Amino acid sequence: MNANILSFHCPTKIYMGINSHQKLNDIIKEWKIEKIFVVADGAIVKTEIFESMEKILKDNKVAFDLFSEIEPDPSAATVEKAFDLYKKSQAPVVLAMGGGSTMDTGKGVGILAKNGGRIADYEGMEKYSIPPLPLIAIPTTAGTGSEVSASCTITDTDRGLKMSIRHPTLNPARIAILDPIALKTLPASVAAHAAVDAFVHAFESYISLNANPITDALNLHAMELMSQNIRQFVSDRTDLEAGLNMACASNLAGITFGLTGLGNVHCMARFVGAFCHVSHGLSNAVCFPAAAEFNLIANPKKYARVAVAMGENIAGLTEMEAAEKAFNAIKLMCLDLGIPDKLRNIGATEDMLAEMAELSFKAGYNKWNPRYTTYEDFLELFKKAY
Ligand SMILES: [Fe+2]
Repeated sequence: MNANILSFHCPTKIYMGINSHQKLNDIIKEWKIEKIFVVADGAIVKTEIFESMEKILKDNKVAFDLFSEIEPDPSAATVEKAFDLYKKSQAPVVLAMGGGSTMDTGKGVGILAKNGGRIADYEGMEKYSIPPLPLIAIPTTAGTGSEVSASCTITDTDRGLKMSIRHPTLNPARIAILDPIALKTLPASVAAHAAVDAFVHAFESYISLNANPITDALNLHAMELMSQNIRQFVSDRTDLEAGLNMACASNLAGITFGLTGLGNVHCMARFVGAFCHVSHGLSNAVCFPAAAEFNLIANPKKYARVAVAMGENIAGLTEMEAAEKAFNAIKLMCLDLGIPDKLRNIGATEDMLAEMAELSFKAGYNKWNPRYTTYEDFLELFKKAY
């Protein structure tokens, strides 16, 4: 275990269950909300849960303005455009309904409303001190865990990089509502990529150098829940029980990874996403098996626990044999979900590998990743994934 003093907290109140978005009725009354600023994914605006949410607002006589021009990996310009609309609204609460991009845009609006300036001013750790507008988040993917995580990611298109804005106490939503009805309309491929991303959050947080017994407990349960439900959920997003379990599991991992940091999968995926112009979920999913294999020798004991969480029978095996069961289960999970098995199949070319390896080495993930990874190691990892 890490010799530093570690901490755990979750400032978000979490409601979970089928139809739990109806809790909005109580929240509106409890908070005496008369006006709300809604940030929603454009595709969600046409769904039954959005209609239901609109009805709740109308029934409770809550005025609302809607911003729905969200693109994947939202840019600073998008956040500032949303904030321009917000300035006319001046609502005291933000409601975000969508995936990580939508929730991160909602977080950005809340930060600007209370702290002023430009969103790029807040890149880094705890760069603002005034609590942002309270955020009610209804995730529509089982993926990022942004509703509870300490970070929001905004793309700076001028500099061509993703800014991570982190604040463990002020960045999570005030309230998260995990309602599987919100996941019903997800396309299968998006559901698969987001779900593997969520699994990677739990896995990388569990083996992180900053893990602690509380995050370990949450991550093991998150991996168990996901292993039991991920295939069923991806094959049928209207299976509300599987959807609820996936929403809860991705939420658990969202709580933990903001506290422990992530590892080589997310490190590599950052640059795969930027070079190949593919989603965060897909870039993580393609890098996952190679990075999981590389890290195995750093902590076979924990890998063996992952194998058990994934439903593998490790009776009579040595620790290393049990650890390899986890790696094999991870590979099989990605295969079953139809994840492309090579970077070359998602647009990477051989000439990109050295630059991505160099950027990965300089990105500083060795402070969390359990096995120290050199430039040469990253190059080998990219070659293996290629
Ligand atoms: Fe992620």
